[in-house]
Amino acid sequence: MTAPASERQTADRDGFEPDGSGPDRPGPEARGTNDALAAAAAAVRYHYDVGNEFYRLWLDTSLSYSCAMPDGPDDDLEAAQDRKLRFHLDAVNAQRAGAVLDIGCGWGAVLGRLALTHRVPRAVGLTLSIEQAAHVAAAGHPGVEVRTEDWRDYEPDELFDGIISIGAFEHFARPQDSSAEKIQTYRDFFERARSWLTADGALSLQTIAYANMPREQASAFMQQEIFPDADLPTLAEITTAAEGVLETRLIRNDRLDYAWTCEQWARRLRARRDEATGFVGPDIVARYERYLRMSALGFRSGKICLYRLVFTPYPRGYAGRATPAPASGDVKATAR
Ligand SMILES: C[S@@+](CC[C@H](N)C(=O)[O-])C[C@H]1O[C@@H](n2cnc3c(N)ncnc32)[C@H](O)[C@@H]1O
Repeated sequence: MTAPASERQTADRDGFEPDGSGPDRPGPEARGTNDALAAAAAAVRYHYDVGNEFYRLWLDTSLSYSCAMPDGPDDDLEAAQDRKLRFHLDAVNAQRAGAVLDIGCGWGAVLGRLALTHRVPRAVGLTLSIEQAAHVAAAGHPGVEVRTEDWRDYEPDELFDGIISIGAFEHFARPQDSSAEKIQTYRDFFERARSWLTADGALSLQTIAYANMPREQASAFMQQEIFPDADLPTLAEITTAAEGVLETRLIRNDRLDYAWTCEQWARRLRARRDEATGFVGPDIVARYERYLRMSALGFRSGKICLYRLVFTPYPRGYAGRATPAPASGDVKATAR
């Protein structure tokens, strides 16, 4: 997850030195270049490649690292993550799908469900994290392919009945981007997703967004020490980017679900603090505890929020214009 916190803070650089257990913090690069893509990968690895054992201590057993869907405050994390996965799988009609793409697949919770529960013949996951990709590959689920690849580089040779993207959108724009540049990046994402979908397919997207706070008040601690090189969208930027590319069929704001999820993660990490310290050292543990606390506060207060959105291709193109052709020439559909 990516969550700038609600309060303006300066980075506590004095207390921070990468201790060798995590990748080095990346530097800013020019947009659209190979260097920029490499920087995006480095920024993601800085956060996600601190060690799978660390995340296993405080996430649920599916290693879902995104907002769950509790049915009340007394729900347990396992059940709440399962409900969230079902929401997205239902949104893309996974039961009837021949092929599904997961953009930002993490440790493969969605891919595992696609293969084992829904028996989808083909499921492709994209991640920038080497450790996540190794974890998914080791699971060896039938029909699952995991690629360590940016969606901006991906060139599929088949269409997908569904695309799911949970908790990755927050990484697509950078703090130095103007709002117009952010919208362009998101539009690129929606256009590619549209070109990779069958005509009756669907995109199920989950992302954190700025809500009742200006972007200028984003926490420097979060943007420099936790999720470097990443910035959140606003709802207006998301819908402006999608307008004319995909039809927005559903929007829900489940920010209190994310406050609950962060509180669960913080409680679980606190309970395993000694083991966590053994894996990644005291500085990283302290940083994660702080970011989870700050994020929970941000969601509770409504400064940041959590959107779940479902998009579908316009059935007859948009405003009289034909539907754009797929990006790569001979992309074909996979039969179920
Ligand atoms: C917060 S994790 C969410 C993982 C998973 N969807 C889940 O819910 O547990 C964000 C994921 O997005 C991936 N990601 C971020 N930017 C990406 C990009 N440009 N292309 C592909 N994957 C990306 C990261 O590698 C990571 O797997």
